Amino acid sequence: MKSTVQVDNLEVTLRGRLAQREYQGRLRHLDAPIPGVVDFSSNDYLSFSQNLILRKALITQLGVSSEKTPLASSNGRALGSGGSRLLDGNSAFVEQLERKISEFHRSEAALLFTSAYDANVGLISCVPGAEDVILYDNLIHASIHDGMRLSRATRKISFAHESIIRRVRESEVDLKKNGGSMGVKDPKGLESTLKQLIHSDERVRYGESNIFICLEALYSMDGDIADLQYVCDMIEYLLPNGNGYIIVDEAHSVGVLGDGRGLVCQLGLQDRIWARVVGFGKAIGCAGGWFINVQLLWFFLLTTIFLTLGGILCSSIARLYLINYARTLIYTTSMSFPSLASISAVYDYLISGEAEKHQQQLQILIQHCHVKLRSLYVRFKSGAAGLSVPDCASSSPIIPIFTRYPKSLARHCQTSGFMVRPIVAPTVPHGQERVRICIHAANTIEQIDSLCQSIETWLRYLGTMQAADTRGKSQIGDAAEAVLATGLREKLEPKL
Ligand SMILES: Cc1ncc(COP(=O)(O)O)c(C=O)c1O
Repeated sequence: MKSTVQVDNLEVTLRGRLAQREYQGRLRHLDAPIPGVVDFSSNDYLSFSQNLILRKALITQLGVSSEKTPLASSNGRALGSGGSRLLDGNSAFVEQLERKISEFHRSEAALLFTSAYDANVGLISCVPGAEDVILYDNLIHASIHDGMRLSRATRKISFAHESIIRRVRESEVDLKKNGGSMGVKDPKGLESTLKQLIHSDERVRYGESNIFICLEALYSMDGDIADLQYVCDMIEYLLPNGNGYIIVDEAHSVGVLGDGRGLVCQLGLQDRIWARVVGFGKAIGCAGGWFINVQLLWFFLLTTIFLTLGGILCSSIARLYLINYARTLIYTTSMSFPSLASISAVYDYLISGEAEKHQQQLQILIQHCHVKLRSLYVRFKSGAAGLSVPDCASSSPIIPIFTRYPKSLARHCQTSGFMVRPIVAPTVPHGQERVRICIHAANTIEQIDSLCQSIETWLRYLGTMQAADTRGKSQIGDAAEAVLATGLREKLEPKL
């Protein structure tokens, strides 16, 4: 047993680290959701986690109304799975579900993990070998970084995110006519990085080392969409020996893009992408629930044990390899039956075409929000907030509002009844702090208008502060924050 002195020393160390984080303004807290606020923050893009039809479908899947529950396919287990997938946790139900999912996404095979986080870590940590190279987008999700830490690959090279986003690349040029270049100038971009690698390493050049290219389809913080067609064309052109393997994280794009099938299917690239990671905790809406309907209280209890599941779409041989080597699959208890049943219910809904109306409604709302925010940008771009919003309307439900004062703006929106979140460094690079807005199918035009009205109020207020403040720009946000925090916002608003 450790002595009190040792424990105290550890506590002192931990306190010190936390104090440093706090000093840097990076201390994280768990916030309880504010009741009654309009959701412009969660990843539940299609609002499926609150969808009544899906709730009913799930109840049917769970078979709760009958004594003889249809659980034979889950080994009679209504709750936990009983163990790791490799021991007692496998079932006919999960295998059927994997077949349903792989068919829907036009993949040869699928393998379910307990989360997309685990899927990424499992995949990246066990597939690349010591001689292989991982090229990853510098904005890639933390789970890929964690997988890379565990990977045997010694070369992990980042490339500039912008280089795979269509709007910032130069206009498209025919690869063959242009000597294998798409006209990209960025020396840190994917194309330049790969060319340098090919030039300096003959094992890469002659197809003896594998190159894994990791990117996301729809980026969770920037809301921009990767130009996968360009990436596929370029990789195949520069690595004609076929040693380029593209891995696309579709955590945020399934459900939303390509009739729910994701970006890869939307572009018809499923045969040119080596593996896709799909998450069921975002648009698929299966990351637990907050069901407060009294008749469904038992259901609430069940849903509290839901996990955020994820899966990998890949070839049958890659699936078998992962079953043998992916430690995040092997050394963990597999998914519970209610988790699987919820995913199954959502996929039935997607397959039936019923989800289309939600996807269409979501797109209408996205376009409306984009127009409103652009109009704010045009009017306030030279103001104190340092406001910027993406200039091209896309089908992404994630819209970042860049500002110098994301915490102040987010707090203002929250106190006005809208849940939005500030995203600051280190989650995003310094200087790219923003408020992240997520649109959901169940939001309304009126809610979006009110949110934009609230943002406008904040911008006007900041303008007033700027005019009055003689202490310099750097303190405007702090002053705004202090005023908002002390609840004076309402008093100030009539003056604006
Ligand atoms: C791009 C991306 N990949 C993977 C994950 C992990 O997903 P999950 O919540 O299913 O573990 C996330 C979660 O935020 C993500 O944004």
